[in-house]
Amino acid sequence: MERNALCWCGSGKKYKKCHMAIEEKMQFHADKGEIVPSRKLLKTPAQIEKIKASAALNTLVLDEVAKNIHAGMSTEEINKIVYDVTTAHGGIPAPLNYEGFPKSVCTSINNEVCHGIPDENHILKEGDIVNVDVSTILDGYFSDASRMFKIGKVSDRAEKLVRVTEECVELGLAAAKPWGHLGDIADAINTHAQKNGYSVVIDIGGHGIGLQFHEEPFVSYVTPKGSEMLLVPGMMFTIEPMINEGSPDFFVDEDNDWTVYTIDDGLSAQIEYMVLITETGVEVLTK
Ligand code: MF3
Ligand code: CO
Repeated sequence: MERNALCWCGSGKKYKKCHMAIEEKMQFHADKGEIVPSRKLLKTPAQIEKIKASAALNTLVLDEVAKNIHAGMSTEEINKIVYDVTTAHGGIPAPLNYEGFPKSVCTSINNEVCHGIPDENHILKEGDIVNVDVSTILDGYFSDASRMFKIGKVSDRAEKLVRVTEECVELGLAAAKPWGHLGDIADAINTHAQKNGYSVVIDIGGHGIGLQFHEEPFVSYVTPKGSEMLLVPGMMFTIEPMINEGSPDFFVDEDNDWTVYTIDDGLSAQIEYMVLITETGVEVLTK
């Protein structure tokens, strides 16, 4: 675009004072054969403001789950909390009716890797570890994050898996920098998981987010440092590795077509942060 024209992002600044430097730098990387994001993956200031509001509601919903989760409750009760709190604040739970998903939240217990469906017959019991994955639409903008909850006293095995998963996500976050690559995040996560004797799920990963639930890029957590898409200010995506005690392999529930289980019945844990790459670093929008 012409240097003195108003920038395409709607900031009101001239292109030369706004995205020109970023796009010149992207072109430099593209010329070296690197994968660079398309312009539509760079959120504008107005979009960022809206998406941040969605993310704030997403965090509020997760906080409400954290306050109420306990042994003896069903995962359907978690679903009700998520639906009620989200809609009371003017939001819509993004999973509800998403590609036929029947509930407002994913609840994945012990050997369930992800996409567990809340059910009044699934009662949380002492010793369970459960991932609650909350995704919110507010004013048409999407956000997504998940936490692990330990129900009462859990085994040393479960305790360690959840701790290492937290460490993996924090290390992945620390590796996320503008003008780095998605593979830097993956490598930090995969290295730490393997060091602890764990594996990272290969075929399910994270995703771009903000204007849609799942946008480009697909975010792998097993790719090498320096590989995959360039990290450019304005990009938003999730850091959400699934860490397995044993094999990274899984199978999908034949009855509901959603719930993913570990192939070897080992435990699996997942934590999800939604992040924004900025000019100076990375911002966590919801976790
Ligand atoms: N929150 C999940 C993710 O991170 C969404 C799964 S799709 C659903 O991608 F329909 F199961 F919610
Ligand atoms: Co996600």
